[in-house]
Amino acid sequence: MQRVKLDATDSTNAYLKKLMATEKVQDFTVVTANNQLSGRGQRGAQWESEAGKNLTFSVLRYFENFRIQEQFALNIIASLAVYKTLKKLFIPNLYVKWPNDIMSGNNKICGILIENNLKNDLIKSSIIGIGLNVNQMDFGKLNKASSLKRITGRTIDLDEVLTAILDNLKVLFEEFTPGKVHGIREQYESFLFRKDKPSTFRDSNSKLVTGYIRGITEEGKLVVEFEDAIFKEFGFKELELLH
Ligand code: BTN
Repeated sequence: MQRVKLDATDSTNAYLKKLMATEKVQDFTVVTANNQLSGRGQRGAQWESEAGKNLTFSVLRYFENFRIQEQFALNIIASLAVYKTLKKLFIPNLYVKWPNDIMSGNNKICGILIENNLKNDLIKSSIIGIGLNVNQMDFGKLNKASSLKRITGRTIDLDEVLTAILDNLKVLFEEFTPGKVHGIREQYESFLFRKDKPSTFRDSNSKLVTGYIRGITEEGKLVVEFEDAIFKEFGFKELELLH
């Protein structure tokens, strides 16, 4: 595992991408930034992180015969690696909010941005970017964001948490190689945020709808049950869980 430690960069995902365009980068290269100046989040959002307080890092993986239809396995593996690490640190009320936010109670403590490089119907490589709020105490207007320190009152060693996440990632990737991803879905579903609870969503027409999360499909779509036992499946851009 090759490690690139940066003091400051715009985005560790973007850094890895640029590096790959200029030189051969080894499988499992990990890029960390002490200060990520322009972190990127899902749905085109920004990921803000106070310098030196949190983990902002990206991991590169190459694959052979990894079909696009199975790409949600990456979301599951990344989420489980963080989930398992935080469980060992006794972080309470841990859940994975679909597709891959890590929550403690109603607070988001970690976001994951996975960027895949595709060829035909295969994923050739993937950059898994993880932002975990560790010791930051103030999140300004982001009232749903929290950190491990805010939750536990303890200052936590960044390197220890990073090493534990990377170890978990390695084990999960060994266990669930492409074509062998069944079984992890059930684990993921058992930690799914608001599963079987009445919840409010925003659909793709910005309409508010209520229903119950029942699980995910093989391809990682969210399964929601609405009134009259009507089940529907949603892709990431088709539904947003509000509360
Ligand atoms: C989200 O919106 O929840 C995803 C946030 C992902 C943030 C991480 S921090 C490291 C990596 N580099 C980025 O620019 N984004 C990801």
